[in-house]
Amino acid sequence: MSTCSRGAGFLITAVFMLLVIQPGMAGSQQAAANGSRVSRPWNNNSLTPVQRANLLIKQMTLDEKIAIVHGAPLKPTKAYVGYVPPNPRLGIPAITLADGRAGVGNHARDVTLLPAPIAVASSWDIGLINEYGKVLGQEQWAKGTNVELGPSIDVVRVPEWGRTFESYGEDPYFNGQMAIAEIKGIQSQGPIADANMYLTMNQEKNRFKEDSIVDERTLREIYLPPFEASIRDGHVGTVMCAYVKTNGIYSCENPFLLNDMLRKDLHFDGWIMSDWGAVHSTVASVKGGLDQEMPDDKFYGEALKKAVIGGQVSMSDLDEHVRNILVAMFRQGLFDKKQPGSWTASVRSPEHDAFSRTVAEQGTVLLKNDHDILPLSETASIVVIGVAGGNDPKVEGAGSSAVVAPYKVSPLDGIRNRVGAKARTTYADGNDLDVVAKMAHDADVAIVFVHTDESEGGDRPDLSLPGNQDQLISAVARVNKNTIVVLDTGGPVLMPWIDEVAGVIEAWYPGQEDGNAIAAVLYGDVNPSAKLTLTFPRSADGIPTAQVERWPGVNGLSTYSEKLNVGYRWYDATNTQPLFPFGFGLSYTTFKLSDLVAKPTKLESTIQHMPRRVLVRLNVTNTGVREGAEVVQAYVAQPAGNGEPPHQLRGFAKVQLKARETKSVSILLDERSFSAYDSSLHRWISPNGIYEVLVGTSSRDLPLHSQIAVEGGAANALTQGR
Ligand code: BGC
Repeated sequence: MSTCSRGAGFLITAVFMLLVIQPGMAGSQQAAANGSRVSRPWNNNSLTPVQRANLLIKQMTLDEKIAIVHGAPLKPTKAYVGYVPPNPRLGIPAITLADGRAGVGNHARDVTLLPAPIAVASSWDIGLINEYGKVLGQEQWAKGTNVELGPSIDVVRVPEWGRTFESYGEDPYFNGQMAIAEIKGIQSQGPIADANMYLTMNQEKNRFKEDSIVDERTLREIYLPPFEASIRDGHVGTVMCAYVKTNGIYSCENPFLLNDMLRKDLHFDGWIMSDWGAVHSTVASVKGGLDQEMPDDKFYGEALKKAVIGGQVSMSDLDEHVRNILVAMFRQGLFDKKQPGSWTASVRSPEHDAFSRTVAEQGTVLLKNDHDILPLSETASIVVIGVAGGNDPKVEGAGSSAVVAPYKVSPLDGIRNRVGAKARTTYADGNDLDVVAKMAHDADVAIVFVHTDESEGGDRPDLSLPGNQDQLISAVARVNKNTIVVLDTGGPVLMPWIDEVAGVIEAWYPGQEDGNAIAAVLYGDVNPSAKLTLTFPRSADGIPTAQVERWPGVNGLSTYSEKLNVGYRWYDATNTQPLFPFGFGLSYTTFKLSDLVAKPTKLESTIQHMPRRVLVRLNVTNTGVREGAEVVQAYVAQPAGNGEPPHQLRGFAKVQLKARETKSVSILLDERSFSAYDSSLHRWISPNGIYEVLVGTSSRDLPLHSQIAVEGGAANALTQGR
């Protein structure tokens, strides 16, 4: 018995060796095509992804390695925006990459158009964004996509940035938390997620040439954290390097960004792909840390093969890049499961339609509500004004994130669906101001829908509403004191008419369910609970990047001289009054925060030399008569000598409360809350001193304070909150 089994084992080993040492042979191809476990030891999923990748690399010829480090210049299909053909000899699946920040992109049909990422982020609801990721991941997977080119997680530095709507907002910690939740959602459904665009991708105007001049502390504290969170806690499989340069070097060949920060410091072991056409070299990119060129083979095809043969690139360097790609694929199970999807499949469902509406409702921010004009009475006669309200609903932004909407519910239809015959509803597109004024005069309430057109490839020229939309609002407000403005914008706009109107709602780009969602908010079926993730400025010159050196830059250099003072940090540091601050949003009910306690937890720090984490606890009471949700925000102000911005968001929690209900809320502040990056020591430090914990409901409304003393790396509660 034992002899017999030993004999069988020998035979198998012998066959295996034959295959291993002569991978190019027809015999081995035959055996490999049969897919026997012995011939493909990397298919053993009890091995680690790195072990499996190493086994596979040993079998790969130079051509096979080259084939996986770039996209196929001639895609065999119109599907997907990037494609790496399969390798049938070794059983490597095709890599199919598709855009999809708000739904499957690249002209795919029969998909769900979700609200823009800025909208779901405005919900401040981690569970909702996790679900958003799941819906995206599920639809991509069913379309046959195995790499979803999202989320976009860059901190919004320039409010005019044409891709603001694709991102989450202006705070590094916040963006990191959103990214973790979305990435986990996407990857739970099959595809690998892609954190993009790395790094300092903060404008579109000069995106192919721009050079961001930025100091290391700012990079580490402001622009890196969303990527750090994506890697450390989101376990993202891929990162996309950006078009721009950082400190003189293109992102996709920047050894400091890729090798030092991503690989050494953050221990990223997945794959780094280029943005589409963002590669500028062969050897420098290989050495700089780029694993894969997209979408074609200009630098990583024949040119790379020649560089390997000529010795400018070593085989082990090439292997490392191949390994990074394979490790991410193995980790995500792409070798272990068969993907059933196809690009022509219909991936919509009634559940996803309903989810799109929920996100739009939860992401809509109520900015102004004088005399409780909202929610509206069902019997009030309404005039809906503006193209975005009727003929041409502004449901999404443009560029690579565009989705073919299966349908669009216009606000006019949504309102009519909601009120039926109970009220008269009329519509004016707003082109003729005299007609509009007459109609507005005759209605109980006038709702003006205004919009911006935003897209990758260009920034907005300024923050004003384009065309005559400001005049339109003023003309309506002059004849109807019950004027409500609904903004369908991807980012902040100036509101010269703010004192003329009774109500303002930011609905962002709300996706296919636009009209149903806005009607639910207008009539109070949904109590708004979203909060801004971007500051809305009062004036064009009152923004952090108003100087031309900062944006769009001079002679191709964009200088990040505001340093850490990005977004609300700048408004606070310069004592500039915003129109609506970061974190702000109204509800149809009211809340009270009380009984703050902040103290170090029993949990030790997870980072060496850092103080313990701090647990913040407080009570939140719904003081009104209807159910609602509040977002409790915890900021930390560091000791003045640390050179940090006045205060920074370090934790938040969204809490749902019935009328008159009180709940206790806990927020854990991590070690980073009590630390700053020291560029001379090249590490995070936690300087001694008194750190203030400020808790409230926006960056400008922080009524509760408590102090933490940090000394020699220990944190102690000094005072209890008031
Ligand atoms: C965009 C990326 C996108 C890629 C593929 C580029 O222009 O910057 O975000 O994933 O195109 O469509």
